[in-house]
Amino acid sequence: TNSTSVTINGASYKTDSWLNVPENIIEKVPRRLHLQKDHPVAITRQIIESVFPTPTYKYHNEFNPVVTTHQNFDSLGFPQDHPGRAKSDTYYINSNTLLRTHTSAHQADVFRADASEGYLISADVYRRDEVDRSHYPIFHQMEGARSWDRAKVANGDVAAAVLSDLEKLPKHNIKVQDPNPPFHDERNPRQAEHHSPAEAEALAAHLKRSLELMVVEIFTRAKAAAVKADPNFVDEPLQVRWVEAYFPFTSPSWELEVYYSGDWLEVLGCGVVTQDIYINAGVPNQLGWAFGIGLERIAMLLFQIPDIRLFWSQDERFLNQFKGVSDNLDSLKRFVPFSKYPSCAKDVSFWLKSSSAAGGNTKPNVHDFHENDVMEIVRSVAGDVVEDVKLVDEFTHPKTGRRSMCYRINYRSLERTLTNTETNDLHDEVNKVLVEKLGVEIR
Ligand code: PHE
Repeated sequence: TNSTSVTINGASYKTDSWLNVPENIIEKVPRRLHLQKDHPVAITRQIIESVFPTPTYKYHNEFNPVVTTHQNFDSLGFPQDHPGRAKSDTYYINSNTLLRTHTSAHQADVFRADASEGYLISADVYRRDEVDRSHYPIFHQMEGARSWDRAKVANGDVAAAVLSDLEKLPKHNIKVQDPNPPFHDERNPRQAEHHSPAEAEALAAHLKRSLELMVVEIFTRAKAAAVKADPNFVDEPLQVRWVEAYFPFTSPSWELEVYYSGDWLEVLGCGVVTQDIYINAGVPNQLGWAFGIGLERIAMLLFQIPDIRLFWSQDERFLNQFKGVSDNLDSLKRFVPFSKYPSCAKDVSFWLKSSSAAGGNTKPNVHDFHENDVMEIVRSVAGDVVEDVKLVDEFTHPKTGRRSMCYRINYRSLERTLTNTETNDLHDEVNKVLVEKLGVEIR
């Protein structure tokens, strides 16, 4: 890596002023946890794959994480001003090259490249985000899609073909709440110029049953692991519900939520693929559905892994617990935490650089301060030794209009006890870098 190019997975990319990928992210790109045998992320991938068998679904697990803005956003119909495109949310290599923020970045390419009936794509994805026990700037997603070809179904009747494929899927007996109609002209429209009502309804029905079966598989395994850990474990019957949603690349769209230990958990996003994606990919005769699911979230629930940083641990006390599971999914057990090391919270308060003091300086001022920049500075200094960062106070001076923020940083290693000096040194360095990079004034 030098000032005009970066090397990622062995390939070199030209950078420009958009470059905002820190070294600690670039280093982790080759890890590909979804392909590491016996790693909980890979095991979770295998469990979901078992619900979507080949040859109907073709698996793609090695796509390059470096994609174009066209692949990640434009091809999917993201508007130019969509917040996901902002530098505060996305890691850019240069103005039109980035680390994919979702597996959907490969949708159009796969539709174009092979006209198979379905696919699953598993991959590492990258987002600038907050710091806490369930967020990490790299995580893994799986995306699935199932398509039908008007030219290949009997009498060109896609609705009938989809319903007949639906008949072939297993049944389940879980409780499903699905209060809304499969499409709603204002809130969740079907693509009336491309799909008949019967087609939209059939696709929705096939999509919903397929994903409900996936949830049944995951939660049956989660329950078996819970019973192994505690024979007295009493489970509540599995409940799921469909909630209307919005994505630029599907319509109608939904999220699937699952009721688990007292909470409704959002598990995945999905919908009927926007027909323009097929049309632009040169396969206008196809139509179908797609979904995307976060693997860490599911793995945390299956294995009861309490902190997302653990997935990146190379500590044998973590990795050894999953040995053999990739070859025998039935041997899945819950994770047994090794003792929690003490945490140490430290506050940092600062004045944002006021806009009037901008004097030719390019550092961000009060108007373009973004919290994710604080998050990333803390991560780049303290790495996985930071458990969470929270805004604890915010204040605007009534006379000067200057804004002050106070963040509480919780330092805790998953692997050892940090010494006082070590924590103090880290915190001093965080303060220093905040001043250097954001031009803030420590209070
Ligand atoms: N890509 C979406 C996300 O990351 C999930 C999704 C995939 C939604 C496919 C619909 C269809 O949130």
